[in-house]
Amino acid sequence: MRAMTVTIVGSQLGDEGKGGIVDLYGDDVDVVARYQGGDNAGHTVVHEGEEYKLSLVPSGAIRGKVGVLGNGCVVNPRTLFDEIDTLQERGLDPDVRIAERAHVILPFHRVLDGIEEELKSETDDEVGTTGRGIGPTYEDKAGRRGVRVGDLLDPDVLRERLEYVVPQKRAVVEDVYDLDVDELDDPDAFDVDAIFEEFREFGRRFEAEDMTVNAGAFLSATIDEGQNVMLEGAQGTIIDIDHGNYPYVTSSNPTAGGAATGTGLSPGVVGDGEVIGIVKAYLTRVGSGPLPTELGGVVGDTPGYDEQGEGENEELANYIREEGGEYGTVTGRPRRVGWLDLPMLRHSTRVSGFTGIAINHLDVLAGLDEVKVGHTYTLDGEELASMPATTEQWKRCEANFKSFDGWPEVDWADAADGGYDALPENAKGYVEYIESELDTPAYAIGVGPGRGETIVREQPF
Ligand code: IMP
Repeated sequence: MRAMTVTIVGSQLGDEGKGGIVDLYGDDVDVVARYQGGDNAGHTVVHEGEEYKLSLVPSGAIRGKVGVLGNGCVVNPRTLFDEIDTLQERGLDPDVRIAERAHVILPFHRVLDGIEEELKSETDDEVGTTGRGIGPTYEDKAGRRGVRVGDLLDPDVLRERLEYVVPQKRAVVEDVYDLDVDELDDPDAFDVDAIFEEFREFGRRFEAEDMTVNAGAFLSATIDEGQNVMLEGAQGTIIDIDHGNYPYVTSSNPTAGGAATGTGLSPGVVGDGEVIGIVKAYLTRVGSGPLPTELGGVVGDTPGYDEQGEGENEELANYIREEGGEYGTVTGRPRRVGWLDLPMLRHSTRVSGFTGIAINHLDVLAGLDEVKVGHTYTLDGEELASMPATTEQWKRCEANFKSFDGWPEVDWADAADGGYDALPENAKGYVEYIESELDTPAYAIGVGPGRGETIVREQPF
């Protein structure tokens, strides 16, 4: 039976090029649904020569697909309407539906994100968040004091929710963090009336444009009609709140389980479909935390970086960062760089049950004499094939590297036209090693940023 859903999951630390793969398979898709995260994500889509940078609107919406933000997402309506308005000014008419059950990022969430990071930075413990209020919003969701998209449509409910939660947040700022709300940059972020006015207006717009849906019911009906649905994860497995390197994580589940809970489709529906793990041919990381295959040499003041082998292979790291354009889409921060990490990928493959993988950015490594991968780890004298469960253990892991002969720079557009066989031999050897270690076929291989620069070996729909 042909797949009705294809789920796209980041297998590493985010920024694997998921958007490009969503785009690649997008022609056969009727609806693209995001299942977690918010405007911490960033994707760049090139469509008809125009570049679009988006953080909330699903990339498929640019190509006339219906884009859904599932209940597992956290939605900042300011960002959402900014993006929609910008797309409309550029002549597009994106069709975006928002789950009534999705939680709303309110102004104080961003402020609290900043305050907590600042406090943690005093002891070098900051996570290096994107500052978008993601963690505080999911906290309120789990704490049963959040505001949901559906609440914006009902003024009485919205006011009641705000009157409960806002005074609590004021008290946290004043009594826990010992700060004066009125001296913050944005004191209105803690003002019930100001929030009510602004967010009620967002609610009216949601209503007027008929944008809110019961996501699970909507997506099930779409599938029942025989349409194809793509479930698009943001971020990646190693920053998953459950399966990542806690506490250096985002506050949601980018792994495939999140595709069910974050949309309202059942695990059976997700599992009957394809689950494609997106793998970058090397590693990058923004924010703090260990990285056993790190090359070193990040510029700037990435928190937690100092202790991670600074400088050792700085030149190589800088080279890969520049070749790959490894700077954050949302924050512009330079990304830390490392070799591919197989214990990480074995963990990701198990957690999400990848039926296929897509390997991106293979061209970035071209021209190097030697390409390495972390094949296994050694932890306390023992060899490990997969990641340990605690970040403290992971930090103590030493990577055992495997070395590959490099491959030459070629005309990648030609290589993509020529298909898999046209790839340089050593590049194929690298791909086949990854496939064999993960026991998972590579459905697609990205050799450049454009849509035509991806070798497609399997159409999942
Ligand atoms: P938050 O999601 O803003 O709370 O940030 C938590 C952690 O996830 C930080 O280390 C961020 O750098 C990381 N993170 C969040 N979104 C992305 C992303 O889209 N790509 C890569 N890292 C991300």
